[in-house]
Amino acid sequence: MAVTVVVGAQWGDEGKGRVVDYLARNAAMVVRYQGGNNAGHTVAVGETELKLHLIPSGILHSNTLCLIADGVVVDPAVLTQEMQTLRAQGISLDSLRISGNAHVIMPYHRILDALDEQRRGGGKIGTTGRGIGPAYADKAARSGLRIADLVSDHFLERARPLFAEKNHLFQRVYGADAMDSEALLAEVAGYAGQIRPFVCNTTLLVGQAVAARQNILFEGAQGTMLDIDHGTYPFVTSSHTVAGGACLGTGIGPRQIERVIGVCKAYTTRVGSGYFPTELEDATGERIRQRGAEFGTTTGRPRRCGWRDLVALRYAAQVNSMDALALTKLDVLTGLPTVCLGVGYACDGKRLNHFPDTQAEYVRSEPIYEELPGWDEEITGARRLADLPANARRYLERIEALAGVPLMMVSVGPRREQAITLQ
Ligand code: IMP
Repeated sequence: MAVTVVVGAQWGDEGKGRVVDYLARNAAMVVRYQGGNNAGHTVAVGETELKLHLIPSGILHSNTLCLIADGVVVDPAVLTQEMQTLRAQGISLDSLRISGNAHVIMPYHRILDALDEQRRGGGKIGTTGRGIGPAYADKAARSGLRIADLVSDHFLERARPLFAEKNHLFQRVYGADAMDSEALLAEVAGYAGQIRPFVCNTTLLVGQAVAARQNILFEGAQGTMLDIDHGTYPFVTSSHTVAGGACLGTGIGPRQIERVIGVCKAYTTRVGSGYFPTELEDATGERIRQRGAEFGTTTGRPRRCGWRDLVALRYAAQVNSMDALALTKLDVLTGLPTVCLGVGYACDGKRLNHFPDTQAEYVRSEPIYEELPGWDEEITGARRLADLPANARRYLERIEALAGVPLMMVSVGPRREQAITLQ
């Protein structure tokens, strides 16, 4: 496995947690490198299901070091809540490490997220409302607070003027109420004691693990099409969700990454606003949503559903230098008479086999579909490709051929063992 990045190949929610869970068994270290508690995955602890947003699911494997690295934005309220939840399940946090360089999501970032969305009106992004964008904006503007600040003696002194600045902004620019700064400040400062024991230099730890040739798993959050530079801007998140983000968010050099695994569903989903050419706003889309339980882990919002977009997948393969593909939820498509693959776009009378150059062209583009026969047979018990009906195999073969990336895993049901592993 060596140094592997697992990255989302669509607009998030691809089922990365499933693939990470599979690979984490052999990993000495699992690392979150970007995003924050806008992400979410459900992990099973015996009969109990836990929802984690920040702490890598590798925490369930006692020998795996779990890092929240420099590029992540951390809401201390959420982090400490997750710590308590895990402890209450008897899960040790001894292997958790948090970078002092990671930025803190402050209460005013959450407020600002909501105010910005209100101000955008019909053009709103549909953010998760967790303060992600404003926290990254402050980081880029060099007025953020880092975890190292939160756990230091100077936290109140640094944070107080930032609260005052934001109150000024809320009242003067947004016409909103001022925050009760002192109460919020005391609340955030109150989390420091719980977090302090886990804070360290994670870049150093990753470097040592690389030098020792350990298996390291970088766990991407969100997906390629939500990348701040390479996604469908402005309907994106505020971090680098592509595999290169693992370098930026941890301090590992690009040549150290040995394998990139992209994860996509058998179909496509998206939450929030923004262009989605293969979206199905009909009974088939609704059927996929219900069968696939396509409702957000973080916000509970219904996800938009549509056919698998191969143009997007090819693009994801390119920008991530994807070595292998894990395809999830194939079973959700069972029972459909035909299944479609978006193989190109028609734009202004021309066929495009790549992404349109501008957002305006993108909006004018219509998908071109390849239609394949569906399958009715139950596939949740399949454990080898040969167990699948011929039409399901053909669907997978077309995806592999059109994406130009070999499959390494296909999931056929929600349980851990309901998967076909190929590499
Ligand atoms: P933000 O990351 O909360 O700023 O949201 C920006 C966009 O990214 C919105 O369209 C969100 O729905 C989307 N987004 C953020 N995190 C996730 C995720 O984990 N899965 C799917 N979509 C996400």
